[in-house]
Amino acid sequence: MHASVWPAITPRPRTVSERSGAFTIPAELPVSVAAEIGDAGAWIARVGAAFERILDGRTRLAPVPGSGSGAAASPTLRVTLDPAQRDAYRLRVAPDGIDLTAADRDGASQGLATLCQAILLSDDDRLPAAELADSPATEWRGFMLDVARHFFPMESLDRVVDYLWLMRLNRFQIHLTDDQGWRVPVPDYPRLVEIGAWRPAGTSDNQVIGGAYSSDELRRLDGECRLLGITAVPEVDLPGHASALLSAYPELSCAGGEWAVETRWGIFPAVICASSRSVQTMLERVYGAVADLFAGPYIHVGGDEVPPEPWHACEQCSTLDDPYQTIVRRMTESVLALGRRPIAWDEASGLSLPEQTIIVNWRGPEGAANALKRGYDLVLAPEGKAAYLDHKHLDSALEPGRIGVCTVEDSTRFAPVTYVAAHAPVSDAAGTILGGQANLWTEGIPHHRQVEYMAYLRLAAVADGLWTGRPGAGDDGITARLNRLRAALLRTGHNVYPGGFR
Ligand code: ACM
Ligand code: ZN
Repeated sequence: MHASVWPAITPRPRTVSERSGAFTIPAELPVSVAAEIGDAGAWIARVGAAFERILDGRTRLAPVPGSGSGAAASPTLRVTLDPAQRDAYRLRVAPDGIDLTAADRDGASQGLATLCQAILLSDDDRLPAAELADSPATEWRGFMLDVARHFFPMESLDRVVDYLWLMRLNRFQIHLTDDQGWRVPVPDYPRLVEIGAWRPAGTSDNQVIGGAYSSDELRRLDGECRLLGITAVPEVDLPGHASALLSAYPELSCAGGEWAVETRWGIFPAVICASSRSVQTMLERVYGAVADLFAGPYIHVGGDEVPPEPWHACEQCSTLDDPYQTIVRRMTESVLALGRRPIAWDEASGLSLPEQTIIVNWRGPEGAANALKRGYDLVLAPEGKAAYLDHKHLDSALEPGRIGVCTVEDSTRFAPVTYVAAHAPVSDAAGTILGGQANLWTEGIPHHRQVEYMAYLRLAAVADGLWTGRPGAGDDGITARLNRLRAALLRTGHNVYPGGFR
């Protein structure tokens, strides 16, 4: 008895109608891609790489000659565009072949992610014939990975991006800097990665641990995200969390002196000076470098957990009314001057910033309400249950994780669009809730396989709510779907959390 794959797809597609017959899944799936799809060759190659890694080689995409340039010889999977179509994609699986029609390349990427997942979930090499029509209910469906507390090599980021694509998520926030490491090269400030990327290893066998990406690697990552319909959102976290930066350029602090890349976790007085000219120059060069590496519309400036004491002790900063307001305003204006939309953490929700600023709420709902009242667009990633995937899956001494507990069931209930109304109603909201994201802080997560363990199952739960706009709908079999997804991911070598959902 083989249960159909279609009711098991996560996120749940909007409509699925099964037909009679089945498509037999080949080892190589010939695919033709309409010429109108931009960068068709690179696109299908990157989608093919995701198929290969997710399915552990079970089914490979084989672009047929002529793909992307018109005529194609007897393809089994045909991808075409119909810009007039209102669904993101329509997928028709029939015994003699598969047709995918999408409004644009991003929709086609989503359709292929659904097909890839159907193959992943299949346990008998057959896909029941079916027709699907699908589109997302939420604009911002995100995931943040902290690559600063621990450095993750490109092989890891490629796999994370594969998984975001598989879950039809569309924002990948990369937390590139923090007290414990600086990962992004900035041409005018070479010591950021020469010094700031490395921290003493404590009890490790290694002398130092860390690393940084090359400009080419980050450009490639950004481009491949775009091919898969994912916008990379680079984050440079300032004005606090700056130990790594100050270890390289101590003169950018208020008092100068000696700084080291931090070996502990927490909040530290490593803060850049809010009044110095050279800080302003540094910010412009850093955002310029980031804008050169990442082509998307956003740059996240950080803004979280900033102790103000160093500013109170600074001759210049202590003359400012509000040094935090001053520096975060400069940061966001510098990003805006590059033609990008600034993003800041919740702590900035009470500030007067450019109106284009997006706030990512992670603390309580009051900050979220405040941001909306001030007219900022908002992304919700509240730490209290559901969206902080560094927390334990269960309140158990056996489970890894920090700070709190976030069960799989909690993640299925993550409801960003109703969160503010439920907890801190605002009658005069001027901003818009764009959606939500889950965050993975990596203090306790040194390696990729642990990322899979902590993130993959709960991220699927979060993705389901964001895509469908119906989080926590108890009647839709989410538990059965996640169980089946988990079994399939385990079969293909992914290190998914094996325990209970609540
Ligand atoms: C945060 O969790 N400090 C954004
Ligand atoms: Zn200062």
